[in-house]
Amino acid sequence: MKIGIIGSGDVAKTLGSGFLKHGHDVMMGTREPGKLAGWAKQNPKGHLGNFADTAKFAELVVLSVKGTAAAAALRGAGVANLAGKTVIDTTNPIADAAPTNGVLKFFTNLDESLLEQLQREFTEVHFVKAFNSVGAACMVDPQFKGGKPSMFICGNDAPAKKTVTTILTEFGWETEDMGTVEAARAIEPLCMLWCIPGFVRSDWVHAFKLLR
Ligand SMILES: NC(=O)c1ccc[n+]([C@@H]2O[C@H](COP(=O)([O-])OP(=O)(O)OC[C@H]3O[C@@H](n4cnc5c(N)ncnc54)[C@H](OP(=O)(O)O)[C@@H]3O)[C@@H](O)[C@H]2O)c1
Repeated sequence: MKIGIIGSGDVAKTLGSGFLKHGHDVMMGTREPGKLAGWAKQNPKGHLGNFADTAKFAELVVLSVKGTAAAAALRGAGVANLAGKTVIDTTNPIADAAPTNGVLKFFTNLDESLLEQLQREFTEVHFVKAFNSVGAACMVDPQFKGGKPSMFICGNDAPAKKTVTTILTEFGWETEDMGTVEAARAIEPLCMLWCIPGFVRSDWVHAFKLLR
């Protein structure tokens, strides 16, 4: 598939390389192409563009920007370029404030997630929350002694979730579909839980698994 990644941070770079590794065509979108010069050198098959070029190029978009900038980045990408497309939302609503004893602060609350805010503004987009509950280093082909980890996803469009499930399977994950966008009220805070061992004891290598 043609994948457009909006962002230039660790998540964007990791997923960009991961999609190339798994045989997809990738464009990375940034406001500052210089930030991706190193990535471009290591990934000569990848393309670079701005947010709008990237959304236009893409059959499937990945949103990997700072949570506070998520809506602005999508506006920059252009509603018309995103309409009808699946957008994997990797973002977390982390506030611009220091964590308390390793617990991050969010700018959302338990009755409204960032995903719901985005879905409400960009009604034509098929958002699927995914990849937000694990660190970038473990996103592609994760290797854990405990076996395949679980990726919790949600979204309102069933075909979009099917596409994302196929990608997650390619990337070595078991997908756990938690339902519609409201489930992001529970999935986004998994990021807070995932980060605590990192902030408290520098342990950043782990993932969640749903046992039955
Ligand atoms: N890091 C992780 O391990 C991890 C894991 C799971 C989920 N997440 C979530 O994934 C997202 C990306 O995380 P990250 O660590 O890779 O990067 P980040 O540092 O959170 O975000 C960097 C990106 O945000 C964009 N950005 C910042 N301010 C902006 C603005 N005002 N308007 C438009 N774009 C703006 C930048 O775009 P330009 O390139 O144009 O400067 C850049 O691409 C975040 O929401 C994060 O919470 C992160």
